[in-house]
Amino acid sequence: MPDPLRVLVVHGPNLNLLGSREPALYGAITLGEIDARLASQAKEAGAELELFQSNHEGALIDRIQESAGLVDGILINPGGLTHTSVALRDALAATTLPVVEVHLSNVHAREEFRRHSYVSGIARGVVVGFGARSYTLGLDALLHVLRTSQEG
Ligand code: DQA
Repeated sequence: MPDPLRVLVVHGPNLNLLGSREPALYGAITLGEIDARLASQAKEAGAELELFQSNHEGALIDRIQESAGLVDGILINPGGLTHTSVALRDALAATTLPVVEVHLSNVHAREEFRRHSYVSGIARGVVVGFGARSYTLGLDALLHVLRTSQEG
């Protein structure tokens, strides 16, 4: 039996407000509910999750650096930092781990400034626009990528 796959799930700024934040855009689901869905999906798939949310760019970068070597892949919704943060992109790239980027909303159908992501260029794949399902689709895809590389 191979070791269980380990995934770091990172939620960026303002995602702690899900449920009450602009529900027309982001839905009524809370971050706790999204995390619970991901946890049960991971359990079913025999994987282990670390869940982390911060409103602080440096705290996100610290956690990503600390997790390199301890996890097999990263699922991230970088929130607004998607469109601004070279440093977050560099931290993700430095891990050399497969990264899947997710967004609840379809960032391409919103303001022009949301169309560019600093993260997408180093991501293995991107899922946007499916609400909380973007996360579960993203986790499924990441586990598939990791399993395929585990099998060699
Ligand atoms: C978001 C999209 C970003 O543009 C925005 O700043 C967020 C949420 C999403 O999940 O749709 O905070 O990442």
